Amino acid sequence: MITLQNLSVGYRSGGETFQALAQVNLELPTGKTCAIIGPSGCGKSTLLKVLAGIITEYEGLVELDGKPIRPECQKIGFIPQNYGLLPWKTVAGNARLGVKIKYGCLSGEGENMEQLLAQLGLLGLENRYPGELSGGQQQRVSLARSFLLQPDVLLMDEPFSALDAMTREDIQKVFLRVWKQHAVSTVLVTHHVEEAVYLGQQIIILSGCPGTVSKIIDNPLFGLEEARDQPEFFQMCLKLRKMIKEDWSA
Ligand SMILES: Nc1ncnc2c1ncn2[C@@H]1O[C@H](COP(=O)(O)OP(=O)(O)OP(=O)(O)O)[C@@H](O)[C@H]1O
Ligand SMILES: [Mg+2]
Repeated sequence: MITLQNLSVGYRSGGETFQALAQVNLELPTGKTCAIIGPSGCGKSTLLKVLAGIITEYEGLVELDGKPIRPECQKIGFIPQNYGLLPWKTVAGNARLGVKIKYGCLSGEGENMEQLLAQLGLLGLENRYPGELSGGQQQRVSLARSFLLQPDVLLMDEPFSALDAMTREDIQKVFLRVWKQHAVSTVLVTHHVEEAVYLGQQIIILSGCPGTVSKIIDNPLFGLEEARDQPEFFQMCLKLRKMIKEDWSA
């Protein structure tokens, strides 16, 4: 369980403090996915950085399974917007990186690695470098790296936004399939309403400046691989769009 109580974050710059998040309260259950959607600048990435232990100066309580966030003690998978691959490492080297940094060795991950690369459609590409991969393939390597770590929490900052619409839908489907086998607690930041409805068990609308939680929605359509073909999916997207518009214009 991820617990945020009265989380406020300010950035200090030029002698002034800019308040990025104010009084955020959330409880995200273990083994579920949560999609955070909100306008540009409302503090989504800030929130993820707090959960990743990158931002440590904040007010309020932030806990993962009842303990403060400490990346050296917990396994935190973080996928930044640019995938975070090292250009001088191969697909296999990049995929192993999280485990290597965490444990300093690579023992015990061989079988998982092969299985994961197969699930993510990366077999045969192990020796290529990121510069020799398409955007979608690079994205899948970053997913392999995170799942291989078997993280306590997986944090994804607009992970699919740089991909074209068709590739994005394909990779979202692959992600959902692999995610179901691992059921990692996942927080996904997105600008896309469809992505929130496809991948978020819980959908959180952030709004305002400083950002705060304006709505929490339980999403019954999560987990259906072919959800996008169903009229309910379309209805849910419309409903969410309407809520977001109302919130953002308020
Ligand atoms: N290092 C920083 N110093 C000062 N202000 C910052 C810093 N990082 C972010 N901010 C400000 O904090 C606010 C929230 O930023 P953040 O990156 O969390 O927004 P976001 O919701 O992720 O936006 P986007 O959707 O555009 O990625 C913004 O107004 C931003 O300008
Ligand atoms: Mg951001």
